[in-house]
Amino acid sequence: MPILYRRAEPQDLVAAESLVVASINELTERHGFGLMATSSPPNFQQFSLKDDPDGLWIAEELGDILGFAWSWACSDFWFLAQLFVEPGQQGRGIGNELLKLTLEHAQKSKAVHKALITFTFNRVSQGLYIRHGFYPKAPVYFLGIARDHLRPSLPESPLRSTAIDGSDAQLKRLAEIDSISLGFTREKHHRYLRNDPDTSGVMLYSSSECVGYAYVNSSGHIGPLAVTRPDVLGHAFTSTLKLAAERQSKNISAFVPGTCDSALGIAVKFGMRITFPMLLMATSGYPSWTGYLPRNPGFM
Ligand SMILES: CC(C)(COP(=O)(O)OP(=O)(O)OC[C@H]1O[C@@H](n2cnc3c(N)ncnc32)[C@H](O)[C@@H]1OP(=O)(O)O)[C@@H](O)C(=O)NCCC(=O)NCCS
Repeated sequence: MPILYRRAEPQDLVAAESLVVASINELTERHGFGLMATSSPPNFQQFSLKDDPDGLWIAEELGDILGFAWSWACSDFWFLAQLFVEPGQQGRGIGNELLKLTLEHAQKSKAVHKALITFTFNRVSQGLYIRHGFYPKAPVYFLGIARDHLRPSLPESPLRSTAIDGSDAQLKRLAEIDSISLGFTREKHHRYLRNDPDTSGVMLYSSSECVGYAYVNSSGHIGPLAVTRPDVLGHAFTSTLKLAAERQSKNISAFVPGTCDSALGIAVKFGMRITFPMLLMATSGYPSWTGYLPRNPGFM
């Protein structure tokens, strides 16, 4: 029976999420990192499917889902949010076929830049991506700490913050910040975050200048965080750590690119520990982030 490759349907997303969790945990356990993923409702997948169904694909055999790929596009930028194959089915060419289908989505979207975040310790994914024109740009460290360990050592917030309320003026400024720090705008994703009851966002100010934004969720996870200038990144990260520490979560965590020196230095100075090393890969010409901390490898 040949493997069927088809567009994902809304009713596939829970099963696809289970496959992704199993595939991540098999990989991280096999490499000695322990379990990384826990199941969560596929809310952002659902949002992306509704927004642009060309980006989500299923590999299926005899009614069983063997693989899942999901990409999203904003302006001229395309991002591979997930590519996962059932552990027992890897090495059969399924990942390669799914990747080709999502790359057709990139072509349809007229993407100029393409990127993804993968596991530094996965030789297979990196080899496959290099074959398709993605090259390593920067390590991205997943760092975490118990909130009680972080709180006493934090200084006063160096930046002032105001809640993101979705006003037109704020949306305009968010787009400007994204244009500067990422090279593209993603208004739909800010709308998604605003409607997520677990997440809150702030605009960050140095005197009267709005220099960035940051989001924190109810589990104490920071990101995305973006700034207009690398020289304010350290202050933006410290201020956001402070906001996260004022909440009730058990832990605080963030993904910090190796090219965001000041944020990385501050994270380690305050005792955050590297748990999982990840890697930003992108097509030639896309610059590494010096003023952007992604939310996770799917949302970016
Ligand atoms: C990464 C993954 C999606 C690939 O899917 P797959 O179905 O196993 O991969 P395929 O069989 O289609 O292709 C494997 C290709 O990887 C490349 N590859 C494998 N090992 C490699 C190595 N050591 N060095 C370089 N390239 C390598 C080759 O190009 C190989 O193709 P070939 O066998 O035809 O030469 C799958 O293995 C997986 O789910 N892994 C765990 C989760 C993960 O890391 N996902 C990526 C998240 S971004």
